[in-house]
Amino acid sequence: MDLRNHDLKEDIREYWSKRSKTFDLAFGHRIAPGPELDAWAAAVRDAVGPAPQKVLELACGTGEVTNVLLSLGHEVTALDFSEAMLDVARAKHAGNAQVRFILADAERTMEPDQSYDAIICRHLVWTLTEPEQALADWFRVLKPGGRLLVFDGDWAKLTPLGKLASLAVRGLERFIGHDPHYDGAMSERHADIMKRLPFGDGLTIEKLVPLVEEAGFEAIRLPSRRPIAVAQRREADLRNRLRTLFYRRFILVASRPR
Ligand SMILES: C[S@@+](CC[C@H](N)C(=O)[O-])C[C@H]1O[C@@H](n2cnc3c(N)ncnc32)[C@H](O)[C@@H]1O
Repeated sequence: MDLRNHDLKEDIREYWSKRSKTFDLAFGHRIAPGPELDAWAAAVRDAVGPAPQKVLELACGTGEVTNVLLSLGHEVTALDFSEAMLDVARAKHAGNAQVRFILADAERTMEPDQSYDAIICRHLVWTLTEPEQALADWFRVLKPGGRLLVFDGDWAKLTPLGKLASLAVRGLERFIGHDPHYDGAMSERHADIMKRLPFGDGLTIEKLVPLVEEAGFEAIRLPSRRPIAVAQRREADLRNRLRTLFYRRFILVASRPR
């Protein structure tokens, strides 16, 4: 057993567990009902097709993407390896018989072969410790023709516009103060984890697409994320509108061959 890898996973789990109670307060995490929920739902509908389908949601966190899936009428299994995150998600969706929450590692789901129509994850891939292993497992549990839908981004580098936006936020915060819940929270711990990850210097589509292909997926598409960003900006204050410009985010859709 690779103990360094074990320690890294433990550190990742502990980091997210510590953030579980305030995670939804950080901009970009909660998906507000209305235009933003509609934009996320449209992206999911476009990628996986009409409900009801058997969907496996990886790294469900506080259950925000779970809510998108349930609003569409899917039958959802949502997993996370942080019990603290799952507690928040379970409380949010208490009494909903369409969702089952499980404590599991997204890189080794232990779910049966060919048992899901779709696999969805938001903001998980950048923090995988064994991306090849994870993709092989997701391929295994998808039915032939099943879809993989990844929402993620390069959180290691600001885009050129993001650099300007970040300076503007810093200037703004001299007057309005810092936001204790934004992703800079626990930033030293975050940086320590980041440098030990395979995608520690940033997750890009250029790195991810070849890995997805090597795992056996086909029909890889990169739909526009713009409708989601536009919907987020509509509801956000100036600081959060600027934050939507910080990083290069993407959506990746792929299929297991029939
Ligand atoms: C940035 S949060 C995203 C949560 C949720 N997907 C969302 O977008 O709101 C990352 C989540 O991934 C979970 N996570 C990270 N690595 C994991 C793994 N190997 N297995 C299961 N969950 C994992 C963490 O516990 C945390 O809940």
